[in-house]
Amino acid sequence: MSQDELKTAAARAALAHVEDGMKLGIGTGSTAEAFVHLLAEKVGDGMRVLGVPTSERTARLCLELGVPLTSLNEEPELDLCIDGADEIDPALNLTKGGGGALLREKIVAYASAKMIVIADESKLVDSLGGFALPIEVNPFGLEATRLHVQGAYRDLGYSGELRLRVRSGEAFETDGGHYILDASFGHISNPKALSDALHAIPGVVEHGMFIGMASLAVVAGSGGIRELPARG
Ligand code: A5P
Repeated sequence: MSQDELKTAAARAALAHVEDGMKLGIGTGSTAEAFVHLLAEKVGDGMRVLGVPTSERTARLCLELGVPLTSLNEEPELDLCIDGADEIDPALNLTKGGGGALLREKIVAYASAKMIVIADESKLVDSLGGFALPIEVNPFGLEATRLHVQGAYRDLGYSGELRLRVRSGEAFETDGGHYILDASFGHISNPKALSDALHAIPGVVEHGMFIGMASLAVVAGSGGIRELPARG
């Protein structure tokens, strides 16, 4: 199977966890988009769900395909969030934000009783950090924030590179009007310590490590579908 077919297979398997009447957080990225297409078919067959999209891009796709949407202001507590990831470690800690939607993704996942992450098996890693960690920052004071982020990594013993994400020659802007620094500092030995250090920097809005948030990973690979529950 191609990688796209595996993404669709994972999305299809995750759909089995969606029940009629659920309020759903709906993720961003190509795997989440495969899920939206399958969910739209179910809605067409009469399934009733209400979705909260994690990005403008996902909102547009849901509207186009007829998936009913609401917001966290109207529905602040969701039953289930289904989203992709850039990396999944054995404890189901995730790296997210490759598509730039990490802040809304994290707000929606946090508002959900359960988070299921869907992916092809290439996303499984022994430890986070092979994929550059997206860090969403306020444009105000960008250079000062960049120095503090570098300092936080250095103080924890990492060395590597921090790059402002650029698209078409301009700083990439998130749905919230923020910028993204992509941090390539290799293997993250202690995600919680790094998370705390990044959260302590005022210009950092959020980072793309989702620690202890996913309860299940639905992963498609050459051997079929695996459902990996979070430990503990
Ligand atoms: C979006 O910002 C990301 O968090 C995505 O969920 C992540 O990048 C996975 O995307 P793909 O499903 O396209 O690999």
